[in-house]
Amino acid sequence: MQNPLDTVRTVADLRARVAAWKAAGEKVAMVPTMGALHEGHLSLVELAHTHADRVVASIFVNPTQFAPGEDFEAYPRGEARDAGLLAGAGCDLLYAPGLAEMYAPGFSTTIIVGGVSEALDGTARPGHFNGVATVVAKLLVQCGPDVAIFGEKDYQQLQIIRRLVADLDLPVTIIGGPTRRAPDGLALSSRNAYLTPAERHIAPLLHEVISEVARAVALGGPVGPAETDARSRLEAAGFAPVDYVEVRGAHDLERLGPGPVTGHARVLAAARLGKTRLIDNVAV
Ligand code: PAF
Repeated sequence: MQNPLDTVRTVADLRARVAAWKAAGEKVAMVPTMGALHEGHLSLVELAHTHADRVVASIFVNPTQFAPGEDFEAYPRGEARDAGLLAGAGCDLLYAPGLAEMYAPGFSTTIIVGGVSEALDGTARPGHFNGVATVVAKLLVQCGPDVAIFGEKDYQQLQIIRRLVADLDLPVTIIGGPTRRAPDGLALSSRNAYLTPAERHIAPLLHEVISEVARAVALGGPVGPAETDARSRLEAAGFAPVDYVEVRGAHDLERLGPGPVTGHARVLAAARLGKTRLIDNVAV
């Protein structure tokens, strides 16, 4: 079946398309994804259009950001459906490279972003952010967009990408798009498809609990007890394990003391419900 959206699969074709737009004075935005698109991704494409004349979305399920035993094989794939959704959202071009285009034989480079990538999911999913940083650096260098959009749902990933772009002097502006949620508060995620009906019923508690932590610490309450209560509530509801519920500095993701919060902070959480690992975050 032919894709409903103009699609390129090689770096050379991508560069030729972007160069032609830039030669015509057009600004280009990129929205990197792993496919299995939902409304959250489409809102990033819409946001991209407010910053640029042309929008390129990429779909590549990046093997290097999955640890052995994680869901790389099971990760939902469906390029024709995704291309239709992207076309409907006004995307101009799909970049869908194959594995050999991204990781040619002999590929041996890994980008490690220190500091901001070391805690939270950096601890829970060792190596994950090295894979993310490496593939995002490649996608940005391959495409050369003026702006690139990433969802705030993956808040730590967003801060890592900001650090990467600053440290490597990549000439691109990184923009975070707000998390899209179901009416009951559950953050939209491709992995929500793994939830059973019973788990789907419990899942919104993650957002409810971190929102309560944010409210409590914003009112001057101490961080430590708020984090501990949140963890207990999630465990009592059946989340196991709860990898973390933590209040951290909003930009550097440094740990905040056990007492009241001063300055910008974010509550971040990750917990497993059955086979599904859910992450979420809210601003304090
Ligand atoms: O957020 C994602 O979908 C992925 O981590 C990304 C940024 C596309 C890199 O593979």
